[in-house]
Amino acid sequence: MIPNPLRDPRDRRLPRVPEPCALVVFGITGDLARKKLLPAVYDLANRGLLPTNFALLGFARRDWGDTEFAELARDAIRQHARTPWREEVWERLAGSVHFVQGSFDDDTAFDELAEALGELEGSHGIGGNAAFYLSIPPSMFPVVLKQMQRTGMAENTAGRWRRVVVEKPFGTDLASSRELNALVDSVFSADDVFRIDHYLGKETVQNLLALRFANSLFEPIWNGHHVDSVQITMAEDVGIGGRASFYEKTGAARDVLQNHLLQLLALTAMEEPVEFSAEEIRTEKLKVLRAVSLPEDLATSAIRGQYEQGWLAGQRAKGYRQEDGVADDSTTETYAAVRLGVETRRWAGVPFYLRAGKRLPRRVTEIALVFKRAPHLPFADTDTEELGNNQLVVRVQPDEGVTLKFGSKVPGSVMEVRDVSMDFLYGEQFTETSPEAYERLLLDVLLGDATLFPRNAEVEASWAVIDPLEEFWAGSDPEPYRAGEWGPRAADAMLAAEGRRWRRP
Ligand SMILES: NC(=O)c1ccc[n+]([C@@H]2O[C@H](COP(=O)([O-])OP(=O)(O)OC[C@H]3O[C@@H](n4cnc5c(N)ncnc54)[C@H](OP(=O)(O)O)[C@@H]3O)[C@@H](O)[C@H]2O)c1
Repeated sequence: MIPNPLRDPRDRRLPRVPEPCALVVFGITGDLARKKLLPAVYDLANRGLLPTNFALLGFARRDWGDTEFAELARDAIRQHARTPWREEVWERLAGSVHFVQGSFDDDTAFDELAEALGELEGSHGIGGNAAFYLSIPPSMFPVVLKQMQRTGMAENTAGRWRRVVVEKPFGTDLASSRELNALVDSVFSADDVFRIDHYLGKETVQNLLALRFANSLFEPIWNGHHVDSVQITMAEDVGIGGRASFYEKTGAARDVLQNHLLQLLALTAMEEPVEFSAEEIRTEKLKVLRAVSLPEDLATSAIRGQYEQGWLAGQRAKGYRQEDGVADDSTTETYAAVRLGVETRRWAGVPFYLRAGKRLPRRVTEIALVFKRAPHLPFADTDTEELGNNQLVVRVQPDEGVTLKFGSKVPGSVMEVRDVSMDFLYGEQFTETSPEAYERLLLDVLLGDATLFPRNAEVEASWAVIDPLEEFWAGSDPEPYRAGEWGPRAADAMLAAEGRRWRRP
């Protein structure tokens, strides 16, 4: 075979270590930085995946120096890191952490930051390379981006790279996401913008691509000839915690349907990429997102709900309207379910049911392909009463793995067929535990590998799906459901009307 010169000649099994660089985190004292980003940096260091010449800069308002910042980092890491604590790894990392104090509208603070980056080139040999992580309220994006532009921090001058990481939400509708994209693109070039959808950093989500494209078993049946319907579920047992001010103006559709669930749909429905590269994978996902269609009758096929007081795991759970910071007459949805179509030859006529909700009976995210029933069953009806449709379920979290559900004979002297499950569990097959999503994604940012980051066109195509739903729902009351139940009755009725029912994972 003639080798393909476009393919990367390096052995992909070798660990990938980024070039010397700095990671600058705006909003370092926030929740995300403490629970996810700082632990991820440590885990990477612990696995030997950070370059020797590395620096971590934190930026926030409180009156701190490097020592106080190092203390916060140490506490956060000890509490949340995935890998074991090793004093020598921490000592090395502690020598590379720096704090810059200031507010985002403070020119002097940004001048100091630019200066600190310059100094780190000499003291830590970071080679001028830096990734800027915006772990800050979205309302602050414009101010920070403009400061980076003003100080020249965003410039990719010869021999150095500068990248920016943007956290969701990427806008609140199509118009605002376009505005945000235009702003980010005016400061950074498109290739240097990394939009985090942390679901794409999960091992099982990437395994969806391995399952489909590394095997010959599944792809022939991965289409509307064999698949009856697809169910994508993101269920949470928790409520909104202390995030009322954010959640009240967001709701389930904007919070997770627009990003995580539509990304899962895109990976499930996309065609095989020419190769496993950022360009090719993102191109295929975009085609799917553009092919998504909404049902004609939104009243019966787009359901939103809000949890009322109920019971969960033996504990009484408050209703959404009784949560701290939530209005007594709030119409924000804590549950959203919709029936979508994907207008391609592969999927025409196959419904994709997406649902996401809070205060549901358990925490689970999964993609289930429900297959058509066998065209003919040569058994008596009573022999197959407990036989459902074959299902292939990719469990994204928890208990990451894949389950195949199919009919099997019950042992005994009579012919009786019942559903059984065949399970693949990551935790059982592999000794190495999966990296945290943020660990993987941070490493990819520093390596400049954008495969697992949605492009702005994908974000906009997703909002084009969500906007009509939000318009339709505006001003109406969500359907109530009790905390601890699987969502409102109308969502069950949506599937029942089509002779189907939701899985109870
Ligand atoms: N938390 C999560 O699990 C999660 C999940 C997905 C996405 N996100 C996104 O990630 C981002 C950060 O979330 P978060 O939960 O970490 O937020 P957060 O806890 O509210 O933290 C915000 C950070 O921004 C800093 N900040 C705010 N205004 C500032 C200003 N004017 N000048 C300087 N610093 C300022 C705060 O620093 P001070 O110490 O100075 O106040 C704090 O460090 C948001 O875009 C959010 O939507 C978060």
